Amino acid sequence: MLKINNLHAQIEGGTEILKGINLQINPGEVHAIMGPNGAGKSTLASVVAGKEDYEVTEGEIFFEGNNINEDAPEERAHRGIFLSFQYPVEIPGVSVTNFIKAAINENRKAKGLENMSAKEILALVKENSNKLNIKSDFLARSLNQGFSGGEKKRNEIFQMMMLDPKLAILDETDSGLDIDALRIVADGVNSFRNEGNAVLLITHYQRLLDYIQPDFVHVLADGKIIKTGDKSLALELEEKGYDWLLN
Ligand SMILES: Nc1ncnc2c1ncn2[C@@H]1O[C@H](COP(=O)(O)OP(=O)(O)O)[C@@H](O)[C@H]1O
Ligand SMILES: [Mg+2]
Repeated sequence: MLKINNLHAQIEGGTEILKGINLQINPGEVHAIMGPNGAGKSTLASVVAGKEDYEVTEGEIFFEGNNINEDAPEERAHRGIFLSFQYPVEIPGVSVTNFIKAAINENRKAKGLENMSAKEILALVKENSNKLNIKSDFLARSLNQGFSGGEKKRNEIFQMMMLDPKLAILDETDSGLDIDALRIVADGVNSFRNEGNAVLLITHYQRLLDYIQPDFVHVLADGKIIKTGDKSLALELEEKGYDWLLN
């Protein structure tokens, strides 16, 4: 599904942050990326999603066999790549439901499909809000306005489930997950994952991986993946930290 070859990237006009990343994610897999602060984890997520603050200087990103290096963020979203927002915008007057409706229909339009009917959207909203324990008054609230940390998380995971991407990238590094938010993310990912999609989960909380069983755990340090293992690697990292892997 996603194949990254020798990816180098820098801040527009600045220093190199990603220094040769290789990563392959197949359908049905959940990959966790862990690593010290400043390693380049969020940068990797942004570069895969196509954020324009970064410049790819070497290497390729393939999604379903297509080189997407030159694709705009919206094109990547239309291909089925979803990136959660660490700092979600507030949109007064636009409800959680209406925002997601617009996002779904924009996606369909890009594929030449007609708008989803109100009835279909309602059915999807119902299905996913039930799974995530979301109440109807939450769905009617203005997007992100006055949302608590847990509510922002819930909304983010709800967006993921509603958009049903092929590859969901969740960057949980800087969001100060409390135990409630942790459960929201874990329950969401576990109900989202299936044989046809994939998840790239960025976290430095080993605890999150108590609830989500990753197929692979990668350690990113100083712009490179320095170790890959299975779930036991996350436990080892919790016990020993990152120092034994560095230098
Ligand atoms: N837009 C940016 N402008 C300046 N420096 C940046 C920017 N994005 C990332 N960096 C720098 O790149 C390095 C990697 O950052 P980041 O990808 O956020 O690391 P991580 O998510 O692993 O903590 C850090 O040194 C950070 O300060
Ligand atoms: Mg980060």
